[in-house]
Amino acid sequence: MYEKINVDLIRNSGIRIVDLRSDTISRPTPEMREAMYRAEVGDDVYVEDATVNALEKRCAELLGKEEAMFVVSGTMANLIAVMVHCNQRGSELISGDKGHTFKFEQGGTAHIAGVHTSIIKNNDDGTFSLDELRVKIRKNPDMHEPVTSLIIVENTHNLCGGKVVPLEWLEKVSNVAAEHNIPVHMDGARMMNAAVYLKLPPSRLVRDVDTVCFCLSKGLGCPIGAMLAGSSSFIEKARRVRKALGGGWRQAGVLAAPGLVALDSMVDRLQVDHIHALKIAKAIAELNSPVFRVDVSGVHTNIVIVHLDTLRVDPSDFKRRLMTVDDSDPVKVAVKCSQRDDWVRLVTYWEVTDDDVDHAIEKIRYVVGQF
Ligand SMILES: Cc1ncc(COP(=O)(O)O)c(C=O)c1O
Repeated sequence: MYEKINVDLIRNSGIRIVDLRSDTISRPTPEMREAMYRAEVGDDVYVEDATVNALEKRCAELLGKEEAMFVVSGTMANLIAVMVHCNQRGSELISGDKGHTFKFEQGGTAHIAGVHTSIIKNNDDGTFSLDELRVKIRKNPDMHEPVTSLIIVENTHNLCGGKVVPLEWLEKVSNVAAEHNIPVHMDGARMMNAAVYLKLPPSRLVRDVDTVCFCLSKGLGCPIGAMLAGSSSFIEKARRVRKALGGGWRQAGVLAAPGLVALDSMVDRLQVDHIHALKIAKAIAELNSPVFRVDVSGVHTNIVIVHLDTLRVDPSDFKRRLMTVDDSDPVKVAVKCSQRDDWVRLVTYWEVTDDDVDHAIEKIRYVVGQF
């Protein structure tokens, strides 16, 4: 509430606001709005919405999977994947301890899907130990144990600062999984950022996983939506689960249309967001502050995580200060960021301009100087 009041005041006083809380803030482009208006629609529960069908077909091809399905959100895509893969009671999935499905999504894998999660500590690069994976997989589980039914990987890795996980690691995870006949799901909410970073087609990034989701409503700028892809039999089951979760939508073509625009015009430009994020990260690193730490080499895509020495600075104070503009402040810029534990996160997206980046850097420098 505090944030909202403050920002409203700032907006009314004509001060520049640079909102770097998340790429989910991004709004649809004029071209997307135009496409929404013109979209051909039908009842998607009957698979009769031509625009949704076109988007699903296009995404399946892009990802090199048999079929794809349009869903409301990344959270729903992950939940559906878990419910399809872990379809017997007493199932367990394995995830990194910084995985989005484990840390966030309200623990829906437990409270909705009824699936137990076994975690492995994430390394800084978003991977986790393959040795530990081998140990965690339950071989011939007896009466007392859950059954390992799924492994989840994340790419790019949000809590690891938008890092692109190495392809060799994904291949190794897939090999271990195959030895035990366990499917692998990729939470690829920002996998298009990873594809742009690696300069590889998305299908190569997901070659070694059975199922994958990616979000249309983050860096790609769509108003809503995510895609879930896998084999035809997986998607057939996924459609049933989506309906049970209340996600069977009707004339959804108006929402799918921006997705088609995004695939045409918003993927390659993610590179600009990456350049912006790196510029912000470098500017913070150049301050050589012992209190504010950024791993510049780890800024692969559009996320910058700044770790704070909490003995010297309360991260929520820093966040508040970035967002506030006092009368006496020489820098008339408010920077919004997200914060948790000992870090703040800054995320770039298409509406964040070169100018915004320069102003945000000016403000960050000023506030860091004050601390
Ligand atoms: C890695 C990752 N997965 C999944 C999600 C969930 O996406 P949504 O907010 O669309 O439900 C997010 C959202 O930030 C995310 O960062």
